Amino acid sequence: MDFNRADGMDGEAGIMGTLQGKVAIVTGASSGIGRAIAERLAAEGATVVVNYNQSADKAKAVVAGIEAKGGKAVAVQADMSRVAEARRLVKEAVAKFGQLDILVNNAGLFFPKPLIETTEEEFDRIFALNAKGPYFAMQEAAKVITDGGRIVNISTYGTHLGFPGATAHLGSKGALEQYTKGLAHELAPRGVTVNTVSPGLTETHMMSDPFRQVGIQLSPFKRIGVPKDIADVVAFVVSEEARWMTGQNLHAGGGVVM
Ligand SMILES: NC(=O)c1ccc[n+]([C@@H]2O[C@H](COP(=O)([O-])OP(=O)(O)OC[C@H]3O[C@@H](n4cnc5c(N)ncnc54)[C@H](OP(=O)(O)O)[C@@H]3O)[C@@H](O)[C@H]2O)c1
Repeated sequence: MDFNRADGMDGEAGIMGTLQGKVAIVTGASSGIGRAIAERLAAEGATVVVNYNQSADKAKAVVAGIEAKGGKAVAVQADMSRVAEARRLVKEAVAKFGQLDILVNNAGLFFPKPLIETTEEEFDRIFALNAKGPYFAMQEAAKVITDGGRIVNISTYGTHLGFPGATAHLGSKGALEQYTKGLAHELAPRGVTVNTVSPGLTETHMMSDPFRQVGIQLSPFKRIGVPKDIADVVAFVVSEEARWMTGQNLHAGGGVVM
């Protein structure tokens, strides 16, 4: 077993297989953190539903990359800010693969605007994607998810730090974190765990140079995160080894303190 490989694959044995036979949905998986999560879960043997909204070509490339390594994936378009589409995504996954074991609510928007400048339309837009869509995806998933299944919500380390100038954003992710705690109780009798993973500043399309420089300065590791840093944490949370952990928020933020 080669622990140094960055792609989650075993150089000699191919797919490692801790998630063999599982079906996972990863929302917003056409790029960034979602893409890395989809690739990581596929490398563990899960069949992955790669959700995207606008970037069909990128989603197809993610699927092709997974298949090229011997994994199984399918791209499914759904706008996760729309409740009907969030429900459809879950239904399509179950219709296609007969089960659902893992839901990762990753699709989200960063909205760095202070309260005083935020319009009602902007507030509704940010909450629709970061909070409302994931809520109803979880509701649909809760109806069908396999006993012992896993739900992971991707929030932000910013809620922990009180990241300045993004009040509505923090509120929407804060809501998601509270859904985690509530649903963890509701699904525990079936052995389903529900947890939050909160990335710190991570090198994706969301990143800009000012935030990158701040992140490098604040982290004791003197770098910002890369998507794989987050995907590896998610891979643990969805594993059998994490069965005793539910309703928690794992801060994957590179040790940043403010
Ligand atoms: N990067 C960071 O520093 C950071 C820090 C903390 C938390 N996070 C969180 O991590 C998650 C992923 O962020 P990222 O940095 O990886 O972003 P990203 O690289 O910009 O990717 C965003 C992904 O979300 C998808 N998406 C956007 N709107 C969608 C919608 N309405 N329905 C379905 N999918 C949608 C995009 O797909 P299409 O292009 O197909 O629309 C894309 O695949 C987010 O929840 C974000 O809040 C990121």
